[in-house]
Amino acid sequence: MMETKLKIKNFVFSGITAALTAGALLSGNALAQKDWPTKSINLIVPFAAGGPTDSIARLIAVPMGQALGQTVVVENVPGAGGTIASTKVARAAPDGYTIYIHHMGMATANALYDKLPYDPMTSFEYIGQVADVPMVLLGKKDLPANNFKELEAYIKANGSKVTMANAGPGAVSQLCGLLFQSRMGVKLTNIPYKGTGPALTDLLGGQVDLLCDQTTQTIPYIKDGRVKAYGTTTMKRLPAIPNVPTLNEQGLKGFEVKVWHGVYTPKGVPQPILDKINAALKKALNNPDVKKRLEDANIDIVPANKISAKGLKDHLDNEINVWGPVIRKANIPD
Ligand code: MLT
Repeated sequence: MMETKLKIKNFVFSGITAALTAGALLSGNALAQKDWPTKSINLIVPFAAGGPTDSIARLIAVPMGQALGQTVVVENVPGAGGTIASTKVARAAPDGYTIYIHHMGMATANALYDKLPYDPMTSFEYIGQVADVPMVLLGKKDLPANNFKELEAYIKANGSKVTMANAGPGAVSQLCGLLFQSRMGVKLTNIPYKGTGPALTDLLGGQVDLLCDQTTQTIPYIKDGRVKAYGTTTMKRLPAIPNVPTLNEQGLKGFEVKVWHGVYTPKGVPQPILDKINAALKKALNNPDVKKRLEDANIDIVPANKISAKGLKDHLDNEINVWGPVIRKANIPD
Protein backbone atom coordinates (compact mmCIF):
# COMPACT_ATOMS: atom_id res chain seq x y z
CA MET A 1 0.00 0.00 0.00
CA MET A 2 2.80 2.32 1.09
CA GLU A 3 4.74 1.38 -2.03
CA THR A 4 1.78 2.08 -4.35
CA LYS A 5 1.23 5.47 -2.71
CA LEU A 6 4.88 6.26 -3.15
CA LYS A 7 4.75 5.26 -6.81
CA ILE A 8 1.69 7.44 -7.41
CA LYS A 9 3.37 10.30 -5.57
CA ASN A 10 6.52 9.89 -7.65
CA PHE A 11 4.44 9.66 -10.83
CA VAL A 12 2.52 12.83 -9.96
CA PHE A 13 5.73 14.55 -8.97
CA SER A 14 7.57 13.59 -12.17
CA GLY A 15 4.46 14.63 -14.13
CA ILE A 16 4.61 18.06 -12.50
CA THR A 17 8.34 18.28 -13.18
CA ALA A 18 7.79 17.33 -16.84
CA ALA A 19 5.01 19.88 -17.15
CA LEU A 20 7.20 22.54 -15.56
CA THR A 21 10.13 21.63 -17.83
CA ALA A 22 7.91 21.69 -20.92
CA GLY A 23 6.50 25.03 -19.77
CA ALA A 24 9.98 26.37 -19.21
CA LEU A 25 11.07 25.10 -22.62
CA LEU A 26 8.02 26.62 -24.24
CA SER A 27 8.52 29.99 -22.63
CA GLY A 28 12.25 29.62 -23.41
CA ASN A 29 11.40 29.05 -27.08
CA ALA A 30 8.95 31.92 -27.11
CA LEU A 31 11.62 34.09 -25.51
CA ALA A 32 14.25 32.96 -28.03
CA GLN A 33 11.86 33.82 -30.87
CA LYS A 34 11.10 37.20 -29.31
CA ASP A 35 14.81 38.01 -28.92
CA TRP A 36 15.85 36.62 -32.33
CA PRO A 37 18.34 37.48 -33.74
CA THR A 38 21.03 37.48 -31.06
CA LYS A 39 23.93 36.70 -33.44
CA SER A 40 24.86 37.13 -37.10
CA ILE A 41 22.74 35.46 -39.78
CA ASN A 42 24.09 33.48 -42.76
CA LEU A 43 22.68 34.33 -46.17
CA ILE A 44 23.57 31.40 -48.44
CA VAL A 45 24.19 32.08 -52.14
CA PRO A 46 24.20 29.02 -54.44
CA PHE A 47 26.77 30.41 -56.90
CA ALA A 48 30.31 31.81 -56.87
CA ALA A 49 31.12 35.27 -55.52
CA GLY A 50 31.10 38.11 -58.03
CA GLY A 51 28.12 36.79 -60.00
CA PRO A 52 24.56 38.10 -60.33
CA THR A 53 23.00 36.14 -57.43
CA ASP A 54 25.90 37.08 -55.17
CA SER A 55 25.51 40.76 -56.13
CA ILE A 56 21.81 40.85 -55.29
CA ALA A 57 22.51 39.00 -52.03
CA ARG A 58 25.19 41.50 -51.01
CA LEU A 59 22.94 44.40 -52.00
CA ILE A 60 20.11 43.30 -49.71
CA ALA A 61 22.31 41.84 -46.93
CA VAL A 62 23.32 45.24 -45.55
CA PRO A 63 19.84 46.82 -45.22
CA MET A 64 18.39 43.51 -44.01
CA GLY A 65 21.07 43.40 -41.33
CA GLN A 66 20.29 46.98 -40.35
CA ALA A 67 16.59 46.15 -40.06
CA LEU A 68 17.31 43.06 -37.93
CA GLY A 69 20.02 44.63 -35.77
CA GLN A 70 22.57 41.92 -36.65
CA THR A 71 25.06 41.41 -39.48
CA VAL A 72 23.84 39.35 -42.42
CA VAL A 73 26.89 37.45 -43.68
CA VAL A 74 26.89 36.24 -47.30
CA GLU A 75 28.18 32.67 -47.70
CA ASN A 76 28.81 31.31 -51.21
CA VAL A 77 28.06 27.59 -51.57
CA PRO A 78 28.52 27.04 -55.32
CA GLY A 79 28.24 23.86 -57.38
CA ALA A 80 25.81 21.68 -59.36
CA GLY A 81 23.78 24.67 -60.56
CA GLY A 82 22.69 25.62 -57.05
CA THR A 83 21.53 22.19 -55.86
CA ILE A 84 24.43 21.78 -53.39
CA ALA A 85 23.39 24.96 -51.58
CA SER A 86 19.69 24.03 -51.69
CA THR A 87 20.53 20.66 -50.08
CA LYS A 88 22.61 22.38 -47.38
CA VAL A 89 19.81 24.82 -46.58
CA ALA A 90 17.13 22.10 -46.53
CA ARG A 91 19.23 20.27 -43.90
CA ALA A 92 20.17 23.32 -41.80
CA ALA A 93 18.78 24.01 -38.31
CA PRO A 94 15.42 25.81 -38.49
CA ASP A 95 16.52 28.54 -36.10
CA GLY A 96 16.40 31.54 -38.45
CA TYR A 97 20.18 31.89 -38.62
CA THR A 98 20.31 30.35 -42.10
CA ILE A 99 18.52 32.18 -44.88
CA TYR A 100 18.82 31.49 -48.59
CA ILE A 101 18.54 33.38 -51.85
CA HIS A 102 18.10 31.41 -55.05
CA HIS A 103 16.76 32.20 -58.48
CA MET A 104 14.41 30.26 -60.76
CA GLY A 105 16.86 27.33 -60.64
CA MET A 106 14.76 26.33 -57.62
CA ALA A 107 11.99 25.54 -60.13
CA THR A 108 14.00 24.22 -63.09
CA ALA A 109 16.24 21.80 -61.10
CA ASN A 110 13.22 19.50 -60.73
CA ALA A 111 13.17 18.80 -64.47
CA LEU A 112 16.97 18.80 -64.89
CA TYR A 113 17.93 16.31 -62.15
CA ASP A 114 16.57 12.77 -61.84
CA LYS A 115 16.55 12.86 -58.06
CA LEU A 116 17.02 15.85 -55.77
CA PRO A 117 17.79 15.38 -52.05
CA TYR A 118 15.16 18.05 -51.28
CA ASP A 119 11.73 19.00 -52.53
CA PRO A 120 11.43 22.64 -53.67
CA MET A 121 7.77 22.70 -52.61
CA THR A 122 8.08 21.16 -49.12
CA SER A 123 11.66 21.40 -47.80
CA PHE A 124 11.70 25.16 -47.16
CA GLU A 125 9.89 28.11 -45.65
CA TYR A 126 9.11 30.86 -48.18
CA ILE A 127 9.97 34.46 -47.31
CA GLY A 128 9.22 36.27 -50.55
CA GLN A 129 10.21 37.08 -54.11
CA VAL A 130 12.91 39.66 -54.69
CA ALA A 131 13.48 40.79 -58.27
CA ASP A 132 13.21 39.78 -61.94
CA VAL A 133 16.40 40.04 -63.99
CA PRO A 134 16.64 40.07 -67.81
CA MET A 135 19.39 38.20 -69.67
CA VAL A 136 21.63 39.05 -72.63
CA LEU A 137 23.42 36.76 -75.07
CA LEU A 138 27.03 37.91 -74.92
CA GLY A 139 30.12 37.17 -76.99
CA LYS A 140 33.80 37.80 -76.34
CA LYS A 141 35.11 41.06 -77.78
CA ASP A 142 37.24 39.36 -80.46
CA LEU A 143 34.52 37.08 -81.80
CA PRO A 144 34.34 37.89 -85.54
CA ALA A 145 30.49 38.12 -85.51
CA ASN A 146 29.34 41.70 -84.94
CA ASN A 147 25.59 41.07 -84.77
CA PHE A 148 23.11 38.24 -84.42
CA LYS A 149 22.98 37.47 -88.18
CA GLU A 150 26.75 37.21 -88.32
CA LEU A 151 26.70 35.07 -85.18
CA GLU A 152 24.28 32.64 -86.86
CA ALA A 153 26.68 32.32 -89.83
CA TYR A 154 29.70 31.99 -87.53
CA ILE A 155 28.05 29.22 -85.53
CA LYS A 156 26.99 27.42 -88.73
CA ALA A 157 30.55 27.51 -90.01
CA ASN A 158 32.26 26.54 -86.75
CA GLY A 159 29.71 24.27 -84.96
CA SER A 160 31.05 22.65 -81.81
CA LYS A 161 34.30 24.63 -82.03
CA VAL A 162 32.26 27.49 -80.55
CA THR A 163 32.37 27.44 -76.75
CA MET A 164 29.58 28.60 -74.44
CA ALA A 165 30.02 29.15 -70.70
CA ASN A 166 27.37 28.38 -68.10
CA ALA A 167 27.02 27.82 -64.35
CA GLY A 168 25.97 24.14 -64.51
CA PRO A 169 22.63 22.28 -64.73
CA GLY A 170 20.08 24.28 -62.78
CA ALA A 171 21.77 27.59 -63.60
CA VAL A 172 19.86 30.03 -65.77
CA SER A 173 22.92 30.62 -67.97
CA GLN A 174 22.79 26.90 -68.83
CA LEU A 175 19.03 27.01 -69.40
CA CYS A 176 19.31 30.08 -71.63
CA GLY A 177 22.34 28.70 -73.50
CA LEU A 178 20.76 25.32 -74.18
CA LEU A 179 17.42 26.83 -75.18
CA PHE A 180 19.35 29.04 -77.60
CA GLN A 181 21.19 26.02 -79.06
CA SER A 182 17.96 24.05 -79.29
CA ARG A 183 16.21 26.91 -81.15
CA MET A 184 19.20 27.35 -83.47
CA GLY A 185 19.47 23.58 -84.07
CA VAL A 186 23.16 23.54 -83.08
CA LYS A 187 25.30 21.86 -80.45
CA LEU A 188 28.12 24.02 -79.11
CA THR A 189 30.77 23.04 -76.55
CA ASN A 190 29.27 23.93 -73.18
CA ILE A 191 31.71 24.82 -70.41
CA PRO A 192 30.43 24.76 -66.81
CA TYR A 193 31.64 27.19 -64.12
CA LYS A 194 30.68 27.63 -60.46
CA GLY A 195 28.77 30.79 -61.33
CA THR A 196 28.60 33.36 -64.09
CA GLY A 197 30.96 35.62 -62.09
CA PRO A 198 33.98 33.46 -63.07
CA ALA A 199 32.38 32.71 -66.48
CA LEU A 200 32.15 36.45 -67.24
CA THR A 201 35.79 36.89 -66.19
CA ASP A 202 36.77 34.25 -68.77
CA LEU A 203 34.55 35.86 -71.44
CA LEU A 204 36.26 39.20 -70.77
CA GLY A 205 39.64 37.43 -70.97
CA GLY A 206 38.70 35.81 -74.29
CA GLN A 207 38.97 32.20 -72.96
CA VAL A 208 35.37 31.39 -73.89
CA ASP A 209 33.22 32.56 -76.85
CA LEU A 210 29.64 32.97 -75.61
CA LEU A 211 27.69 33.39 -72.37
CA CYS A 212 24.03 34.05 -71.72
CA ASP A 213 24.14 36.14 -68.54
CA GLN A 214 21.90 38.32 -66.40
CA THR A 215 22.10 42.10 -66.71
CA THR A 216 23.07 42.49 -63.05
CA GLN A 217 26.74 43.18 -63.86
CA THR A 218 26.93 43.02 -67.62
CA ILE A 219 25.54 46.41 -68.73
CA PRO A 220 28.75 48.44 -68.11
CA TYR A 221 30.79 45.86 -70.10
CA ILE A 222 28.30 46.01 -73.00
CA LYS A 223 28.31 49.81 -72.97
CA ASP A 224 32.08 50.13 -73.10
CA GLY A 225 32.46 47.41 -75.76
CA ARG A 226 34.36 44.90 -73.62
CA VAL A 227 31.82 42.23 -74.63
CA LYS A 228 29.50 41.93 -77.63
CA ALA A 229 25.75 41.79 -76.98
CA TYR A 230 23.79 39.79 -79.60
CA GLY A 231 20.31 40.00 -78.12
CA THR A 232 18.23 40.26 -74.97
CA THR A 233 15.93 37.52 -73.68
CA THR A 234 13.08 40.00 -73.23
CA MET A 235 10.10 40.87 -75.43
CA LYS A 236 10.99 44.58 -75.32
CA ARG A 237 14.43 46.18 -75.65
CA LEU A 238 16.02 47.23 -72.37
CA PRO A 239 16.17 50.97 -71.60
CA ALA A 240 19.81 50.74 -70.41
CA ILE A 241 20.99 49.17 -73.72
CA PRO A 242 18.40 50.32 -76.31
CA ASN A 243 20.68 49.50 -79.26
CA VAL A 244 20.73 45.81 -78.39
CA PRO A 245 17.81 44.10 -80.20
CA THR A 246 15.79 41.35 -78.53
CA LEU A 247 16.36 37.74 -79.64
CA ASN A 248 12.61 37.68 -80.32
CA GLU A 249 12.83 40.44 -82.93
CA GLN A 250 15.80 38.74 -84.60
CA GLY A 251 13.98 35.54 -85.44
CA LEU A 252 13.91 33.57 -82.16
CA LYS A 253 10.19 34.24 -81.68
CA GLY A 254 9.00 34.10 -78.08
CA PHE A 255 12.52 33.63 -76.67
CA GLU A 256 11.92 34.98 -73.18
CA VAL A 257 13.84 34.22 -69.98
CA LYS A 258 13.41 36.54 -66.99
CA VAL A 259 15.25 35.38 -63.92
CA TRP A 260 13.17 35.66 -60.75
CA HIS A 261 14.70 35.35 -57.28
CA GLY A 262 13.30 34.26 -53.94
CA VAL A 263 14.37 34.17 -50.29
CA TYR A 264 13.87 30.96 -48.27
CA THR A 265 14.76 29.36 -44.93
CA PRO A 266 14.90 25.72 -43.88
CA LYS A 267 11.51 24.15 -43.10
CA GLY A 268 10.29 24.61 -39.53
CA VAL A 269 11.53 28.11 -38.66
CA PRO A 270 8.95 29.55 -36.21
CA GLN A 271 6.45 32.00 -37.71
CA PRO A 272 7.48 35.01 -35.54
CA ILE A 273 11.04 34.68 -36.93
CA LEU A 274 9.77 34.26 -40.51
CA ASP A 275 7.73 37.45 -40.04
CA LYS A 276 10.84 39.36 -38.92
CA ILE A 277 12.86 38.11 -41.94
CA ASN A 278 10.01 39.06 -44.28
CA ALA A 279 9.76 42.56 -42.78
CA ALA A 280 13.54 43.00 -43.17
CA LEU A 281 13.42 41.86 -46.81
CA LYS A 282 10.59 44.31 -47.56
CA LYS A 283 12.57 47.11 -45.91
CA ALA A 284 15.70 46.23 -47.91
CA LEU A 285 13.79 46.27 -51.21
CA ASN A 286 12.35 49.69 -50.32
CA ASN A 287 15.79 51.11 -49.60
CA PRO A 288 16.42 53.94 -52.14
CA ASP A 289 20.05 52.85 -52.82
CA VAL A 290 18.99 49.25 -53.44
CA LYS A 291 16.17 50.42 -55.74
CA LYS A 292 18.51 52.65 -57.73
CA ARG A 293 21.17 49.91 -58.13
CA LEU A 294 18.56 47.44 -59.35
CA GLU A 295 16.91 49.96 -61.70
CA ASP A 296 20.29 50.83 -63.26
CA ALA A 297 20.71 47.16 -64.22
CA ASN A 298 17.12 47.07 -65.62
CA ILE A 299 16.10 44.71 -62.81
CA ASP A 300 12.43 44.85 -61.72
CA ILE A 301 11.63 44.75 -58.02
CA VAL A 302 8.50 42.63 -57.59
CA PRO A 303 5.21 44.16 -56.34
CA ALA A 304 4.74 44.21 -52.53
CA ASN A 305 2.20 41.33 -52.52
CA LYS A 306 4.83 39.01 -54.03
CA ILE A 307 7.31 39.71 -51.23
CA SER A 308 5.40 37.16 -49.17
CA ALA A 309 5.39 33.43 -48.46
CA LYS A 310 2.28 32.95 -50.60
CA GLY A 311 3.64 35.13 -53.41
CA LEU A 312 6.85 33.09 -53.62
CA LYS A 313 5.32 29.64 -53.14
CA ASP A 314 2.57 30.18 -55.73
CA HIS A 315 5.12 31.52 -58.20
CA LEU A 316 7.49 28.59 -57.60
CA ASP A 317 4.66 26.10 -58.09
CA ASN A 318 3.64 27.79 -61.34
CA GLU A 319 7.23 27.96 -62.63
CA ILE A 320 7.86 24.25 -61.94
CA ASN A 321 4.87 23.52 -64.18
CA VAL A 322 5.95 26.05 -66.85
CA TRP A 323 9.59 24.98 -67.17
CA GLY A 324 9.20 21.20 -66.89
CA PRO A 325 7.64 20.79 -70.37
CA VAL A 326 9.93 23.47 -71.94
CA ILE A 327 13.05 21.70 -70.64
CA ARG A 328 11.83 18.27 -71.73
CA LYS A 329 10.82 19.58 -75.20
CA ALA A 330 14.19 21.24 -75.69
CA ASN A 331 15.87 17.98 -74.63
CA ILE A 332 17.86 19.60 -71.80
CA PRO A 333 20.23 18.45 -70.34
CA ASP A 334 22.11 17.42 -73.47
C1 MLT B 1 25.23 33.30 -60.71
O1 MLT B 1 24.93 33.98 -59.74
O2 MLT B 1 26.39 32.94 -60.91
C2 MLT B 1 24.18 32.96 -61.71
O3 MLT B 1 22.92 33.30 -61.26
C3 MLT B 1 24.37 31.62 -62.25
C4 MLT B 1 23.36 31.25 -63.27
O4 MLT B 1 22.29 30.77 -62.89
O5 MLT B 1 23.59 31.38 -64.46
